[in-house]
This record gives sequence, structure tokens and C-alpha cells, in this order.
Amino acid sequence: MNELLQNWKRTHYCAEPTSENVGQELLLMGWAATWRNLGSLIFIGLRDRTGIMQVVFDESALPHDVFELAETIRSEYVIAVKGVLVNRTPEMVNKNVSTGAFELKATELKILSKAQTPPIYIDDNLDAQEQIRLKYRYLDLRRPCMQKIQMVRHKITQCARNYFEANGFVEIETPILTKSTPEGARDYLVPSRIHPGEFYALPQSPQQFKQLLMLAGFDRYIQIARCFRDEDLRADRQPEFTQIDLEMSFVEEDDVMAVNEGFIKTLLKETLGLDVQLPLRRVPYDEAMNRYGSDKPDTRFGLELKDISDIVKESGFKVFSEALAGGGSVRCINAKNAAEKLTRRNIDELTEFVKIYKAKGLAWMSMKPEGMQCSFAKFLTKEQIDEIHERADAQTGDILFFVADANNETVYAALGALRLELAKRLNLIDNSRFDLLWVTDFPLLEWSEEENRFVAKHHPFTSPKDEDLDMLETNPAKVRAKAYDMVLNGNEIGGGSIRIHSSQLQERMFEVLGFTKEQAWERFGYLMEAFKYGTPPHGGLAYGLDRLVMLIAGTTNIRDVIAFPKVQTASCLMTNAPDAVDDAQLKELHIKVDLGND
Ligand code: AMO
Ligand code: AMP
Repeated sequence: MNELLQNWKRTHYCAEPTSENVGQELLLMGWAATWRNLGSLIFIGLRDRTGIMQVVFDESALPHDVFELAETIRSEYVIAVKGVLVNRTPEMVNKNVSTGAFELKATELKILSKAQTPPIYIDDNLDAQEQIRLKYRYLDLRRPCMQKIQMVRHKITQCARNYFEANGFVEIETPILTKSTPEGARDYLVPSRIHPGEFYALPQSPQQFKQLLMLAGFDRYIQIARCFRDEDLRADRQPEFTQIDLEMSFVEEDDVMAVNEGFIKTLLKETLGLDVQLPLRRVPYDEAMNRYGSDKPDTRFGLELKDISDIVKESGFKVFSEALAGGGSVRCINAKNAAEKLTRRNIDELTEFVKIYKAKGLAWMSMKPEGMQCSFAKFLTKEQIDEIHERADAQTGDILFFVADANNETVYAALGALRLELAKRLNLIDNSRFDLLWVTDFPLLEWSEEENRFVAKHHPFTSPKDEDLDMLETNPAKVRAKAYDMVLNGNEIGGGSIRIHSSQLQERMFEVLGFTKEQAWERFGYLMEAFKYGTPPHGGLAYGLDRLVMLIAGTTNIRDVIAFPKVQTASCLMTNAPDAVDDAQLKELHIKVDLGND
């Protein structure tokens, strides 16, 4: 027998009782969220993960020792209460709480654990610094809004497991201690004690293992998989995050996309009650860049980019003509009806804003009722101005923003970001909308200035399109991939591809990526060897689970959806990880730490 509980058994969660339980004796357990002592009456708001039940201790109806014990209850004490559920008098009903019509008239009490005054207030309207919340994360997680997010997360993983199971997928685990993978980010390394000087890498994704599972004949694989990437953190990135990871055999792009459309439809129906129309729209990469300046476009509003390069090619405005002479472009966005809403100061702010994306400036043309205002109009002919107005559908009241650059990527990045910024400032985003689409036909490779070589846009196992195969060596930048990303309201929630399944093509791919044959064999020999023993055509996709939870739970902070997250500097404020270790531990691992200031 447990001494503390002495066979007391909880009969209900706090928010479970209904009018059917009125008059019954219940036994509830939980935390004292609130306490009020009115002299002969003590009210406790008893909280568990389901909600709150009001408990009343009435001095006149209780043995003295029970009431005395109740008087000692303070915030966050853990208690067990026996009592009778009663209806509150009509004027005491609290319509804001599901249990607001009842209260538990206490008859017996046990204090299971006392609590110090918590350093943060356990309340949804908490206004504490996030650092304090993260240091005392277990208290932060007591807050109903935080618990709700974890429940949403749980529902999403359950929904994934059910859906994929019903579609013939098998859940299989892959190693965490593994070999370095080329997913594009830096690896987290783990030193080996048994192999001095050698390291495991934590997986950036289960990519190679899931492909090998297809070779092994499992046909359809799914895993809720932890991934580790040592990259610069942002609002939607964590060093360790979770994927809903899947792979399928004997499939082409359409097959993988169809299964995943079914999943996202089911998921949004079960979590938000939304009806998603299938098939989802497909936007080729080039179109996404040209219209939205982004490969994950938010299509809940307009503000599309217009290319005016051909119109201003011969103009005397050097900012434009030099960008074009350098092989770039001039594009603009028409902010409809915003000429009066954006002040000169706002325009200066936006000019600084686009500089974050390496734009050299932001030219603009304001269609004021009293006449057009434009700093560079004097360099253009009337015909050129008219043509720009026509292309951008410019009318009185509009304001046009232009970015010119010799590097097209800069124009896209700056205007793509400006588009989102304008939508926010002008309140153009309908938050009730869920715009889902596929971006397809990605380039296979992208040029890395840093490494001075082509790198895989997705990962090196992604198959080129059959019709582009013969350009792989001659015009690599033009080759498109059998890759697809799923985008929800401007967020990349998942991405995948059909894989290369011949060892010859995989070798060619590694060569284009600048690996020598020896390097490729050293790192991926086991994979290329495996391909020689009978490989089904295969492909798959991985969702960023954390991002899905963010969008479905309606938060913009990825840390809110992870029970124990890391901060910007990749540390955990609660455990203090990463931390120094004993010399003895280092010695065992054959590691000498050199903090020399290099
Ligand atoms: P990819 O690298 O595109 O593909 O990752 C898949 C999805 O994971 C999410 N994601 C992240 N979420 C939080 N923090 C991060 N640091 C982070 N990085 C990525 C994104 C992304 O769409 N193995 C391939 C998948 C495949 O080809 O099947 C892969 O990992 O939502
Ligand atoms: P400047 O010739 O540098 O005085 O710039 C004239 C105007 O053009 C200013 O409004 C700048 O913000 C803008 N501008 C400068 N460089 C660019 C660029 N690359 N793209 C768009 N506008 C620019």
C-alpha cells in the first residue's frame, strides 16, 4: 500500500464531471491553481491537464482537522480531495470554464506535496521572459496553453501513425549513432571510446537508411524520426527536430504526392475540421520564383512580382541598366492602394529591410492623386513609364517598389521578403485561410559561391528528371529534379523526391558534386554497393513535424511546440547543456580540448 495515497483512487480528471455526476462522491487530484480564504470558506481551483474544478472547504460542514489542513494549502500544492459534486448557485456559475456550473464540496483532504512559490505565474496570460520560462520549463508546461500544444502534437503523430498504417506503411527505427550524411547542414559528432579518434555523426535525417529499407523489401516505411542539424537557428529551426519520415517502393512522383495529399487532408480535417480540396495545386519552381520571389510562396494574398527588365533595358537609369548589363533583372511589386498608407519614413524602413537580403536599394513610384512621385522618372521616357504602369496594373493610389540587381537571386530574395513584409504591414493576410500547394520541378543543383562547386539543392540521392539527364555534365544548372515540397501558408512543411536508383547514375551525381570516385566510395560505398543487388524504384518525403504543429496550433515560435527546446545559442536553459565534462571522461574518449583563441 502506498503510504501517501493509502488506497485513495482518483475517480475523475478535474474537468471530467458533468451534470450526471451531481450528488455523487468524487475523488480528484491535482495542483492548487488558485486559493482564496474567506474565513469560514476556502476555495481552491484544482487543476490537472484537463482543466479546473472549484473545490470548497466549508468550516461549518467539516471536521476541524480537515479545515485546518485546508487552510495550509498554497499555490501549486498537490492535493487529493474527496467530496460531493454540487451545482453552484445560478449567480456563481462561471461560463468561461467548462466545469463552471459545479463545485466539489470537500469532505476529506490529503496534501500529497507542498510547493515553494513558483518563479513564474502558472497562467495562460503569463508575461514572463522566455528565458525564465525555459529555465523552469516543467512549470511553464503546466500552463493550459502549453499543454494544449502538446496535445495537438500528440494528435498529429497519432493521426500520422493511423493514416500511414492504414495505407500499408511499416514503422521502423533507424540509428541515431551513425555516419556523417550530406544533407547540407553541419553534423553533430559523437566521439567513439572504442575507436580512438573516430566519430559517429547524429543523423541529419534517416535518408540513407530509409532508402536501404526499400532495398531490403519493406516497400513502405514510416518513422517519427529525430534529426540533428548544427545550423544557424531561426524562428522555425531547432538543432534537433522531428520529421514524419516516409519512403515508398515502385512509385513515381505522382504516387508519393497522392498518398501525402491524402494524409494532409485527413490531418487538417481531424485537427482543425478543415476540408482541403484535392488535388493540391502544383506550382513549378520557376513560376514560384517569378511570381512570388520564393520557393515556398504564401498565396493568401497578391502582391506578385512583375519583371520589367525588357521595358527599362535601354533606360538612362544606371541602377537598372547596369543590373541588366550584368545579367540580372529589374522587378517590381505593386502595393495596391498603399500610396497614402506608407509614409516616407515607412519607405526608408522598407529600403533598409531589403538591404538585409543584399539589395542595394529600393526604388519606388508613388501614384499620388496629385500626380506621380518617383525619384528616377526623369531617366525614363513617357512610353517606358506607361508600359511599366500597364505591366504592374498601376492605378491612382498605388505604390510600386523596384529592385534591380545583376544577381537574379538577390532580386528574388529581396522582393520575396518585401512581399511578405508589405502583406504584414498592410494587413493583407487572411489568417483563417490554409493555402496548401506543391512546389515542383526544382533545380537539381545550385552553385555554391562558398565552396566554388555545385551542391545538391535537396540531397545527392535525388533523381534528375529523365528528360534532363543528358545535361547533367554539360549544363548542370539547367537540370531539374524529381523533387517536390509541400507548402502551407508560405512554410515549407515537407519535402521529398524520387531517388536515384542506379549505382552508375549515383556515381555520376557524386562526380558532378565534385567528389572523386575514391571520396564517393569512401563515404557512400555501402549505398552504391547496395544498389547493385536489386533496387526497386523508390521515393519519399519528410514533414517537419514541429512546423506542422506550429501551423496547426497557431504559434510562430518553434520552441512553443517542443517540450524541452533549445535557445538560439543551441543550449538548454533548464539542464545547462552543452556543458563541460570531467577530464576522466575526455581521457577515455582520447580527446584534448584546446580553447586557444584561433
Ligand atoms: P528536408 O531537409 O527538406 O528533407 O527536411 C524535411 C522537412 O523537415 C523540416 N526541417 C526542419 N524543421 C525544424 N528545424 C530544422 N532545423 C529543420 N530542417 C528541416 C522542414 C523540411 O521540409 N531526407 C529528406 C526528405 C526526403 O527526401 O524524403 C529531408 O530531410 O519542414
Ligand atoms: P542612387 O542612384 O543610389 O541615389 O539611388 C536612387 C534610388 O534608386 C534610391 O531610391 C535607391 O534606393 C534606389 N536604388 C539604388 N539601388 C537600387 C537597386 N539595386 N534596385 C532598386 N533600387 C535601387
